[in-house]
Amino acid sequence: MKTIAIANQKGGVGKTTTTIQLGAGLAMEGKSVLIIDIDPQGNASSGLGFSPREEAIGIYDVLLEGVSLGGTARQTMVSGLDIVTSDTRLLGAEVELVPEEKRETVLRRALESSNHNYEYILIDCPPSLGLLTLNALTASHSIIIPMQCEYYALEGLASLMNTVKLVRERLNPDLEIEGILLTMYDGRLNLSKQVRDEISEVFGSRVFRTLVSRNVRLSEAPSYGKPIYQYDSNSRGAQNYRDLTIEFLAAQAGGVEEAA
Ligand SMILES: Nc1ncnc2c1ncn2[C@@H]1O[C@H](COP(=O)(O)OP(=O)(O)OP(=O)(O)O)[C@@H](O)[C@H]1O
Ligand SMILES: [Mg+2]
Repeated sequence: MKTIAIANQKGGVGKTTTTIQLGAGLAMEGKSVLIIDIDPQGNASSGLGFSPREEAIGIYDVLLEGVSLGGTARQTMVSGLDIVTSDTRLLGAEVELVPEEKRETVLRRALESSNHNYEYILIDCPPSLGLLTLNALTASHSIIIPMQCEYYALEGLASLMNTVKLVRERLNPDLEIEGILLTMYDGRLNLSKQVRDEISEVFGSRVFRTLVSRNVRLSEAPSYGKPIYQYDSNSRGAQNYRDLTIEFLAAQAGGVEEAA
């Protein structure tokens, strides 16, 4: 059992896309997977066909109403992939959690008390370092950091790494960096290559070898409520995320020596 936060406080870097495509990819490899959408924008929910306006039970109820995780997970169209959805009520959660006792560990405690059978839980984080992201990092074994191959990619990374450090010191000493994922890569652009080199210099072997190219099919799939494999299985985006899934699983099988 492994819980992974997909996080970066920078907006639009591919967190949700990676959550959906890696989650669906793992399920298609026979793993049992749960996606938790902890972003008030609800993009992972809508990208899997669940309208965030629907008055359904979801992550808000787990965090603030004490509802069990098992009671909120819903099946997606992909066999083996479930989701705990977000909805607009979560917008208030960042503030409503403040007076709660042990407010950073609400999600972790909910996961611990749920005795679920998922092999992987992926948490799609909002673009901020607030209490929702802190809950995700505190509940997780590791973090995947998607980074867009754009000029300001490394900007803000220091505050993200500082948050990881604080979480390790105070809340979750075992939090690991699963990997940095380069997204929206365009091999024709020098800039993409420069950013890739720069990130590799900082993170070395912790950067996933798989590069996710810029691919319009990946941006179209969510409006159909489908993962890329169901939307356009032959697209470059589908191939990239299949490769990521295989690379990820190989790393799980091989242990953590690469992180050294
Ligand atoms: N590899 C890609 N190629 C082309 N478009 C992409 C790719 N990855 C993501 N996108 C698109 O870019 C936009 C941002 O991606 P995504 O929603 O995954 O980022 P995010 O980090 O979750 O954003 P936010 O910070 O708002 O939660 C979306 O419209 C998405 O469909
Ligand atoms: Mg998102």
